[in-house]
Amino acid sequence: MADREYNVVLLGAPGAGKGTQAKMLSDELGVPHISTGDILRGAVAEGTELGAEAKGYMDRGELVPDELVIAIARERLAQPDCEAGFVLDGFPRTVEQAEALGEMLEDLGREPLIVVNLTVDEDEIVRRLSGRRLCTGDCGGIYHVDQEGIESGAPCPAEECEGELYQRSDDRPEAIRERLDVYRRQTQPLIDYYDERGVLTNVAGEGDPEQIAERVLQAVRG
Ligand code: AP5
Repeated sequence: MADREYNVVLLGAPGAGKGTQAKMLSDELGVPHISTGDILRGAVAEGTELGAEAKGYMDRGELVPDELVIAIARERLAQPDCEAGFVLDGFPRTVEQAEALGEMLEDLGREPLIVVNLTVDEDEIVRRLSGRRLCTGDCGGIYHVDQEGIESGAPCPAEECEGELYQRSDDRPEAIRERLDVYRRQTQPLIDYYDERGVLTNVAGEGDPEQIAERVLQAVRG
């Protein structure tokens, strides 16, 4: 159970480690990890109407339209498990989404946001994304081919997980290039947006994930 309300947004380029850090931070704070990317990939896998609409955008590395993603976030943040806070990963990604998030929190009478921006060099981003492998199971495991035994089709190394490792369809070189371009044009402006509102902390996102997690926690606890 969280000791106070933690309404956290993790910002950062694709591959900056938002998912990796969000998972650790959510365990540490006892608040849910909400990834719009995971929700959308789940909808694609289940073949829902939302998934069918989102798939083409995601495979090309483009953003899914704001109205769809804002509706997903509004519904998810109103769930009771978000009352003590949340760790948002991948939302907001445009100024329009950030404005909508501000209104949602105001409507719900919530504490202000804590925004952490993970900074990582672009060569390292490309290395991370092209080698990333994920688990098909429920463990949410995120791995890299640099780790022993990690490759597509291999069993997930997490204890008691029966999932198999795979590569995301948008981790192909053309889609990675497009995602980085979209990030520069549409998401990077959010760094200034939140900085001007005095809620942003930059955290160096390179090095050992456990050490980065300590820096993130320090930024969040203030
Ligand atoms: P989304 O799923 O949000 O993807 P993303 O932002 O591109 O971010 P990633 O998941 O690729 O990277 P990450 O920062 O989480 O890094 P990770 O921890 O995995 O979005 C996908 C798509 O969905 C979008 O393109 C869009 O189409 C759509 N979408 C989602 N949200 C949307 C929204 N709000 N609006 C519109 N459309 C939306 O780490 C990456 C790799 O690095 C892993 O292999 C990991 O093991 C490794 N790694 C992590 N930390 C370290 C470290 N410290 N050192 C070395 N390696 C590390």
